[in-house]
Amino acid sequence: MQFTAMILSNVEVSPGYWRMRMTAPPECAASRPGQFVMVRVNGAIDPLLRRPFGIFDIGTYTPAQSGAIPQPYLEMLYRVVGKGTAMLSTLHGSDLLDVLGPLGKGFDLGSPAEEKLIVGGGVGLAPLYLLAKELAQGSEVRLFAGGKTRDDILCITEFERLGVECYTATEDGSLGECGLVTEALLRRLDQLQGGATIYACGPHGMLNAVAGIAAERGIPCQVSLEGYMACGVGACLGCVAPGHSHSPDTPDFRCVCTEGPVFESGELKWRDRP
Ligand SMILES: Cc1cc2nc3c(=O)[nH]c(=O)nc-3n(C[C@H](O)[C@H](O)[C@H](O)COP(=O)(O)OP(=O)(O)OC[C@H]3O[C@@H](n4cnc5c(N)ncnc54)[C@H](O)[C@@H]3O)c2cc1C
Ligand code: FES
Repeated sequence: MQFTAMILSNVEVSPGYWRMRMTAPPECAASRPGQFVMVRVNGAIDPLLRRPFGIFDIGTYTPAQSGAIPQPYLEMLYRVVGKGTAMLSTLHGSDLLDVLGPLGKGFDLGSPAEEKLIVGGGVGLAPLYLLAKELAQGSEVRLFAGGKTRDDILCITEFERLGVECYTATEDGSLGECGLVTEALLRRLDQLQGGATIYACGPHGMLNAVAGIAAERGIPCQVSLEGYMACGVGACLGCVAPGHSHSPDTPDFRCVCTEGPVFESGELKWRDRP
């Protein structure tokens, strides 16, 4: 669905990271954790292509007018990396945005009896908050958030408010443990009594490591990919990722925007693994 959203707020939550709230049509209330939107960052020709962003949160707000009824909103958490995201960061309340979505296949919430281990790297936390919100209603949820420095660890208080136990790790030791967040994940897996599912989003190196850990231990793992996208609706094939049986002789590709962005980690081809 294509809609015009009005920005309600656009706030820098950490240096270079912004959280934007916008109005959304009632249909967006049914967005699934892991789905995304394609946003035209302005009405001009450049940048031409929409930019993809995970849905950080959905909810309702009550407009200021007296007697107003609650209206749906949608939130994105984004990092300024180039022209499009820099333009987004200059927008203010009451500016309008052209949005397409919700798009793609989200996370499978699995059985409430299993422990849920959520792993996020930097802005990879963006699609994991709505996931945590839904999972925390019936399951024990732990979040493992990693980044290069403390500035990359985003919105942890919001996760804690959901009752999620949070572990943080930074490569420079400026927040939480010094090192990679996968080390804390491994320690938790060593203590695990029953079943668990891993959900991850972040840089490809982190996803590669998490997929390897899950495969070695036979734990179900879903990953959300954040590669390049042009159309977001399956028309250009610009977003494809190699599937598990891909080789130069037998091409096997997955269309990230329509078959993903969330995949079972075993569906994909990972570095260093057959
Ligand atoms: C399904 C999906 C969900 C996403 N969700 C989020 C989100 O919630 N929050 C968020 O901040 N970002 C998210 N991204 C990434 C986001 O779409 C890009 O950062 C954004 O399009 C960059 O636009 P730009 O015009 O600012 O950068 P550009 O000017 O297009 O590029 C600037 C630099 O960033 C690099 N770059 C651009 N896109 C990507 C990318 N996808 N991965 C790695 N490097 C890239 C370019 O190579 C270039 O070096 C998501 C991507 C996908 C596919
Ligand atoms: S972005 Fe065009 S097919 Fe996925």
